[in-house]
Amino acid sequence: MKQGAPAETSREKSEIKRPVAVRARDLTMDFGDGAPAVDRASFDLETGRFLTILGPSGSGKTTLLRMIAGFQKPTSGEITVNGHAVDATPPHRRSVGMVFQRLALFPHMTAAENVAFPLKMRRYDPRSVPGRVRDFLDLVKLGDYGERRINELSGGQQQRVAIARALVFEPELLLLDEPLAALDRKLREEMQLEFRRIQHELGVTTINVTHDQREALVVSDDIIVMDGGRIQQHARPVELYRMPENTFVAGFLGVSTFVAGTAFPGGLKSGDLHLSGTHAGEIAEGTPVRGAIRAEQIRIVAAPDSLATCDTAFPSRILDVIFEGERLLYVAESDRLPGVAFQVYHHDTEAFDLYEIGAQVTIGWNARDMKIFKSTA
Ligand SMILES: Nc1ncnc2c1ncn2[C@@H]1O[C@H](COP(=O)(O)OP(=O)(O)O)[C@@H](O)[C@H]1O
Ligand SMILES: [Mg+2]
Repeated sequence: MKQGAPAETSREKSEIKRPVAVRARDLTMDFGDGAPAVDRASFDLETGRFLTILGPSGSGKTTLLRMIAGFQKPTSGEITVNGHAVDATPPHRRSVGMVFQRLALFPHMTAAENVAFPLKMRRYDPRSVPGRVRDFLDLVKLGDYGERRINELSGGQQQRVAIARALVFEPELLLLDEPLAALDRKLREEMQLEFRRIQHELGVTTINVTHDQREALVVSDDIIVMDGGRIQQHARPVELYRMPENTFVAGFLGVSTFVAGTAFPGGLKSGDLHLSGTHAGEIAEGTPVRGAIRAEQIRIVAAPDSLATCDTAFPSRILDVIFEGERLLYVAESDRLPGVAFQVYHHDTEAFDLYEIGAQVTIGWNARDMKIFKSTA
């Protein structure tokens, strides 16, 4: 088995400049029944990196992945994998491993027979097959399960067989279309970490599709957020979370409260209230905008003087308290900003149930955390 590069931290990984493995230019897929499913998508993916395409159902993720796989001919635009146009290579010659939500394993064959299948199709030397199959079953921690039939394995184990089968011929590119969507939460989160480990170990260039923001943040080197067939933002996970470029991205990742208003220098105006904030890009005064503040950036206290670290504060009233286990989510409203339901995370391991519905409190934040975007609606 090809050994991956020596263990790199993700920081080192993000700083190494590598050749481009996948290049998409103005990729459009128009099925002719309304807006295009994918609309002028362009991006580069460097060799060895893990890209996630993240977006709600119907946003064009699968269509984009199918064009990259060569299953769907784009209406227009170009796509190359390692410098070769995808449609110039016949499907059986493409070096692409795939795992979809429906795993399409052969249920009556053993795990080892399933993993051996792509090697037989590719006419590997039969003497090399058993060793290679064993290596890849070991990689997915199924070394002892090779002789089990697929229908004798759990959902998570079947998932691992599908991963081993997709990787056993060492493809140039691994494509994943929501392979974890059907698993229960605990198993899904375990498999997300497994994907990350295996991808680091082998260094295979990977494109993963999901609607699960946590999965995208956990596993990826790069994330593309899609909505309505368009790429909304393409960035590293931390950058995407901290510096969303528009209200869609700000609303899709994490929990934010939005305040509508019009732009003024250094903030927004809502009614006769001026709120300081950080403009996302150039926004002319008077433009309709929405300010976004994340639930973890708002503090909530009983007495305003304990909000010394916040430069913006409002007297508020608790509308709802939602217990989420490791934290509380308060919903609060202020007479100064009528109609805005602020969502506030509260982690206090000592003192849960601090405030009840109807309690008078003060909420506050730092103006630099209020991101102001042009309104899209
Ligand atoms: N073969 C097809 N024919 C017509 N419309 C399609 C086809 N495949 C997908 N679409 C449409 O393209 C849009 C994007 O679909 P898809 O790429 O499957 O989204 P996602 O994977 O993000 O849920 C949807 O509106 C879907 O109905
Ligand atoms: Mg899909």
